[in-house]
Amino acid sequence: MMKRKGVAATTWYSETLSFWSPESWQSKPTLQQPVYQSHESLERVAAELASLPPLVTAWEIDQLKAQFSEAAEGRRFILQGGDCAERLGDCNPQTITNKLKILLQMSLVLIHGSKKPVVRVGRFAGQYAKPRSEDFEKRDGVTLPSYRGDLTNRPEFTESARRPDPELLLRGYERAALTLNFVRSLVRGGFADLHHPEYWRLDFVKHSPLAEEYERIVGAVTESLRFMENVLGLHPGEIEWVDFFTSHEALHLTYESAQTREVPYRHGWHNLSTHFPWIGMRTAALDGGHVEYMRGIRNPIGVKIGPGMTRDWLLKLIDVLHPDNEKGRLVLIHRLGRLKIAERLPELIETVRESGKQVVWICDPMHGNTRATAAGRKTRYFEDILRELELAFDLHAANKSVLAGVHFELTGEDVTECVGGARGLTEEGLAARYETEVDPRLNYEQALELALLTARKMMLGASAR
Ligand code: PEP
Ligand code: CO
Repeated sequence: MMKRKGVAATTWYSETLSFWSPESWQSKPTLQQPVYQSHESLERVAAELASLPPLVTAWEIDQLKAQFSEAAEGRRFILQGGDCAERLGDCNPQTITNKLKILLQMSLVLIHGSKKPVVRVGRFAGQYAKPRSEDFEKRDGVTLPSYRGDLTNRPEFTESARRPDPELLLRGYERAALTLNFVRSLVRGGFADLHHPEYWRLDFVKHSPLAEEYERIVGAVTESLRFMENVLGLHPGEIEWVDFFTSHEALHLTYESAQTREVPYRHGWHNLSTHFPWIGMRTAALDGGHVEYMRGIRNPIGVKIGPGMTRDWLLKLIDVLHPDNEKGRLVLIHRLGRLKIAERLPELIETVRESGKQVVWICDPMHGNTRATAAGRKTRYFEDILRELELAFDLHAANKSVLAGVHFELTGEDVTECVGGARGLTEEGLAARYETEVDPRLNYEQALELALLTARKMMLGASAR
């Protein structure tokens, strides 16, 4: 495997970083990695990935870190959202624009509710690798490797589709680049101009029971924008455009490390395949490859925190991943579930306080609330998601902590994967357009409704203080 020089014990940016290199994770036990038939092919692909231009710049990454730091202090609010598993086929103009539209609409509503700038982070342009609880799947006596996302293999239950193919790492990288290129062009081209929210209208929202409330908020935000420009004399260029940042789970470490680079005039190593990589709790073992990899990069990094997180584990993770207490670097994404959040979150907040370090708290109200329908379909109930989110706001406030943002699995499409919401989708109704290969996502209307209710909650919270 490709080897590059590492960083020695004491460096200019960290007093505490012991030897690390983009490939040092290879000496640690590393979970959730596909088993390829040919090691040579994997090496060839990794070398090619390392030679291709980066997708994002260190400058953007540092900018996001600064914005995260402000969010941790309650001066911004983070909206992170997108598919559970992005598909290579999602790289088409319609799917990409619909995803941007719903994220823009939600952020507008959240700006209104929080009275803060919203940091938009997509789960896109690289969210192609999925952790699985089982390495193999058995159907009718046939056993094949589990589907691990389009970066690794294909969901169809055939031997050739499920065989991990290193070439898919290149296909994923290319699709991420095409996606990001289109996102950037749309944003630069005026699609995300706050003066023109009509550009982001999804046709189906017209027919939604939420249309009226949304239109009212659009009116209020547009009005405030005019006020700032005309009365306060703010330069329009400063507020006209909204940015998008990208994020994905840093799961496939050959993919991640191949794009981890040093750039001129910036200290240290950045993962230039995304602005904000995160790891799940199942790959957050202290002596594992993922923690080893994450500790050395300069991006803001996320760790998902489930109900099984212990005080000791969290303290050690903070110690290893966040030795310098750099503002905006360590993001803890709690996904505790509606039933466990009240019991677990205060203790976790207390543990962070005990560490003496600053972290950025985000609530993922999706992954702790997954359940199966009577028919065996994976779903989530809108009311569980909303309840966990409301509790997250209340518990952070009660424990003198800041909830800096939210993390959703959503799509800009009219799918039927989660139960509930304004249209009262039922378990029986899920069959109509159930498209996800992995986790159930909020559809556009449920996502917008959740944003409206989150905004309402933030307004209530702000007036109560
Ligand atoms: C995810 O975010 O899609 C995911 C797999 O989450 P978690 O690791 O928290 O279960
Ligand atoms: Co998921």
